[in-house]
This record gives sequence, C-alpha cells and structure tokens, in this order.
Amino acid sequence: MKAAVLHNYGQELKIEDVELEEPRKGEVRVKMKAAGICHSDLHVIDAHLPLPVPIVLGHEGSGIVDAVGEGVASVKVGDHVALNWVPSCSKCYYCKIGRPDMCDEASKISLMGTMLDGTTRFSVDGKAIHQFPLTGTFSEYTVVPESAAIPIRKDVPFELAALVGCCVITGVGAVVNTAKVKAGSTVAVIGAGGVGFNAIQGAALCGAKQIIAIDIIPEKLEMTRQFGATHTINASEKNVVSAVLDVTDGLGVDYAFEVIGRPETMAQAYNITRKTGMTVIVGLPAPNENVTINAFSLPSQTKTLTGSWLGQGNPSVDYPKLLDLNAAGKLKLEPLVSKIYSLEQINEGFDDLKAGKNIRGVIRFD
Ligand code: APR
Ligand code: ZN
Repeated sequence: MKAAVLHNYGQELKIEDVELEEPRKGEVRVKMKAAGICHSDLHVIDAHLPLPVPIVLGHEGSGIVDAVGEGVASVKVGDHVALNWVPSCSKCYYCKIGRPDMCDEASKISLMGTMLDGTTRFSVDGKAIHQFPLTGTFSEYTVVPESAAIPIRKDVPFELAALVGCCVITGVGAVVNTAKVKAGSTVAVIGAGGVGFNAIQGAALCGAKQIIAIDIIPEKLEMTRQFGATHTINASEKNVVSAVLDVTDGLGVDYAFEVIGRPETMAQAYNITRKTGMTVIVGLPAPNENVTINAFSLPSQTKTLTGSWLGQGNPSVDYPKLLDLNAAGKLKLEPLVSKIYSLEQINEGFDDLKAGKNIRGVIRFD
C-alpha cells in the first residue's frame, strides 16, 4: 500500500510502501478516495505544528469503509465516510456539556501523531510511522477510530466530501457556531484560503450585509466575490486597519475572523473589530507564539476575543448538514476545488499551497 511519508521537517514527502495494521476493537479501515491538502499539514512540514516524524500526514479526507473492527456499530463496510480529526469520547467533561470539539481525549493526543491509545497503525519494516492524529489521509488506506469515520450521503463526489472534514466545518462553523453572526451585520475575514473561503460563505449564509475579504493574492480576492464577499482588501498594498475603517464608517466590523495563524494578523483582526464586537481566531499559530494587543482596550472597548477549533462543530451532525446545504445550493463546495492531484503529485500540491495558487488542492486516489 502506498502512502506519502514525511521523514524530516522541511523535506518533501516520500511516496513509499507502508504497512497498515488491521483495525483493532472500535476502529475501521477506510479505502481513501480523496484528501484535501490543508495548511495544517503544511504547518507540520514547516515544523510550526510539532508532530513527530516519520508521519503520514493528511486529515481532510473521504473514502469507503473497507473493514471494521470488533464492536463497531455506527458504520459498516461499503459506507461512504468523511474523516474527522477531532473524534469525541462522549465521556469527558467537554463531551458531556455538548462541546465535542474540546474533547479531552482528542486533545491529549493532538500533538502525539497517534491513535487514541498512543499507538499508530502505520509501519515500515516493523518501525512505527506516526499519523496525523486519528487520521492520516495521504495514504491509499487508513485505520481510524469509529468516531473519526462519519457516514455521509453517497451522491456527493468524494473530493467535495473530503473538504467538509476540515476547511468547510472549520470555516463555516467559526461563523455559524462560534460567532453566531447575525443577519445584517458586518464581517471581515483575514486570509482567503481553503478555510477563509468557507468563513466567507458562512457569513453569506448568515445574511451578513457586508463581507470584507482580506488577502495578499489579487486573484484569490477576486474569487471571494462569488462566495459572497462584498469588499476586498489587498493587505500587501493597503494598511488593513485603516482600509477596514474606511468601508465601515470608521466603526470597524461587528465580527472579524483570522484564518491564517500568524500573531500579527490575529492582532489585526482584533484591531479591525468595532467596540463590543467579536474577534474569532481560527488560524493555527505555533504553540509558543504570543499575540500583542493593547491592554487598555480590553476594559475600555469590551470586545469579545475568542477562538474556534473545528468550527465548534459536532461532525456526526454537521457533516451531513453541510453536505445537505451544498445539495440545496446554499453552500458552494464544488468551486472550492481548484486542482486535483494524484498521490504522486503531492509535493506539487504543497508547493501550490505555499504559493497560494489554490483555494483547495485535493488528492484523488484512483
Ligand atoms: N495578510 C492577508 N492574507 C495572508 C497573509 C497576510 N499577511 N499571509 C498569508 N495570507 C493568506 C494566503 O495568501 C492564503 O490565501 O492566507 C491564506 C491562507 O490560506 P491557506 O494557505 O489555504 O490555509 P488554510 O488551509 O485555509 O488554513 C488557514 O486555518 O486551520 C487553520 O492550520 C490552518 O492556520 C491555518 C489556517
Ligand atoms: Zn485542515
């Protein structure tokens, strides 16, 4: 079985033969059909997200259940599934209070590169290969916990189904679940990538009257308009804070989303939020980074500053819902896929992601 393995940070992935263990109790094996190339994978390659190597990356994927381990009840062989990198244990405090995105079991292993029990299912010559926590989708097959394989409708192309597992639920969910954007409000999204485009279309879905897309790539800014952006700002040409104030009557926006993962743009998101508005951080910084914001503004401007992880979603409920919204024409998943790659072309996919060429590049396994 072929998989793309990252052996050392900063290097290209190597396509090689990898062994995959049979699914254990409560696990399923998935024959992968499509996998999105997300910036979170690139964060690992760039050593911003400290997962151990060697590792099979990839966490945004879809496929067909091919085998199930003992006791698996929620999926069966032949089901189409989209994978979920934050499976919930349903027993911890956060799962019990209805916040499966904050599941303690999932957070415990979030930087370990393993399954829930701390072991991995991939190996080469008997030596363990890590996997993107609970997933590992850059592989012809993967083994995941039952709660990481969410059954979905069968009429959706696998490329689109893959995307709900990260960029769609993360972007749309940040707007709908975390911020609960109100109709008629003003929104800014900093970072028009796979996740940012979904924050933009989430804001359109909520009925925002003004949606300001901010990026440094003019072609992508132009494309945001078909997802609902009403204004665009090129951050490499303009001062973002004054440009946003200019188009919001000097107020700033009701809701600002940072969807890049850099401390400077996080501060920018806070600074373009109006007094009493809400700033939502979606992008993933390195674990040791800090953001500088003006301390006096905290009491004097009473903004809400929060984060959003997996769009504060509940995948088993939200994936089917997001795919239904796509079928109803209320979300646009198809134009998110800019380019299809084979597994062998994965490094080209990462180069294109770095260069900001795609909304989303997707690997198709044929
Ligand atoms: N100002 C504005 N836009 C910027 C800047 C900047 N200073 N720097 C980069 N960008 C833009 C890029 O041009 C790109 O369009 O941010 C966008 C990031 O998009 P992607 O690389 O496609 O990343 P994506 O997969 O959407 O992930 C975004 O969310 O889930 C997290 O880990 C993920 O931190 C990452 C973030
Ligand atoms: Zn992702």
